[in-house]
Amino acid sequence: MDLSGRVAIVTGSGRGLGLAYARALAAAGASVVVNDVDQAVVDAAVAGIGGDTIGVAAAVGDTESAEKLVNAAVQAFGRLDVLITNAGILRDRVLWKMTDDDFDAVVRVHLRGTFTCARAAAIRMREQGTGGRIILIGSPAGQRGNFGQTNYAAAKAGIAAMARTWALELARNEITVNAVIPIAATEMTRTIPAFAPVIEEAERTGTPYPAWLRHDEGLGTVEDVTGLITFLASDAAKGITGQAIGVGGDRLSLWSHPAEKAVRFQEGGWSAEQIANGWDFEPETYGIPAPKK
Ligand SMILES: NC(=O)c1ccc[n+]([C@@H]2O[C@H](COP(=O)([O-])OP(=O)(O)OC[C@H]3O[C@@H](n4cnc5c(N)ncnc54)[C@H](O)[C@@H]3O)[C@@H](O)[C@H]2O)c1
Repeated sequence: MDLSGRVAIVTGSGRGLGLAYARALAAAGASVVVNDVDQAVVDAAVAGIGGDTIGVAAAVGDTESAEKLVNAAVQAFGRLDVLITNAGILRDRVLWKMTDDDFDAVVRVHLRGTFTCARAAAIRMREQGTGGRIILIGSPAGQRGNFGQTNYAAAKAGIAAMARTWALELARNEITVNAVIPIAATEMTRTIPAFAPVIEEAERTGTPYPAWLRHDEGLGTVEDVTGLITFLASDAAKGITGQAIGVGGDRLSLWSHPAEKAVRFQEGGWSAEQIANGWDFEPETYGIPAPKK
């Protein structure tokens, strides 16, 4: 995939998945704006990636940060073609222990950060008139719900919803908008009890992750996720928009979107009693399935 001449912003790309995305886009020939909250982390990432890469230290969430990123791309490289909204934090707690601050902090970075960055990018891409790629980062927690993740699940579900909305709004401008639902071993996932010992063992011994983890759970390295990002950023993906695409380990998947699954009709509408008597729906499952191992 050749991305020469393309300019990409990757938020939260100082480490983890974002750093891998920035590295992969640069390796494919793109000029990249690396972003994270800490200047030293940004500088180290830029130095490590090399090529046509610049860094912008800014906390994603504010409109000012979003505009700073887009302006930096335009000033350094003359244009903007690809935005990847990857920056993220966790503040996990069950509902009855979650504070306003836990909720606001996560919603601010993920949901508001995605909104403000995508808006600034869309304005620039529409002015350029040559299309674009907006790649949002969702999560299985947002698709399914997850214990202890009220804030994160809400923000990630909102991100998937925004991808579908913006795919509609930006179609005429040939700007595609998709949500990637990644899974990979990072600082964020290595604390999950079912995975922690396996990831540690693989890293300590330098052996690949076991097949059950890569194949059944879709959990592998950050590099396993980069192929989808590079593909979506390329011309080969110009017809793909409004989708939620899962990737991790050996898996690539297309998530279904919510749609009415079953409908019943009652002439004149439904009273509570009629609903009680007529209720024959097969319930939907919810939550991320527990690891099988
Ligand atoms: N690792 C997974 O399996 C997984 C699964 C689903 C979704 N995700 C999502 O992928 C993204 C990256 O996750 P990761 O696992 O690499 O996490 P990570 O914690 O390793 O990296 C996240 C990066 O974002 C940066 N960041 C945090 N707040 C920021 C802000 N306000 N502005 C700019 N940068 C900020 C952090 O400093 C960090 O460098 C996140 O959106 C996460 O929710 C990850």
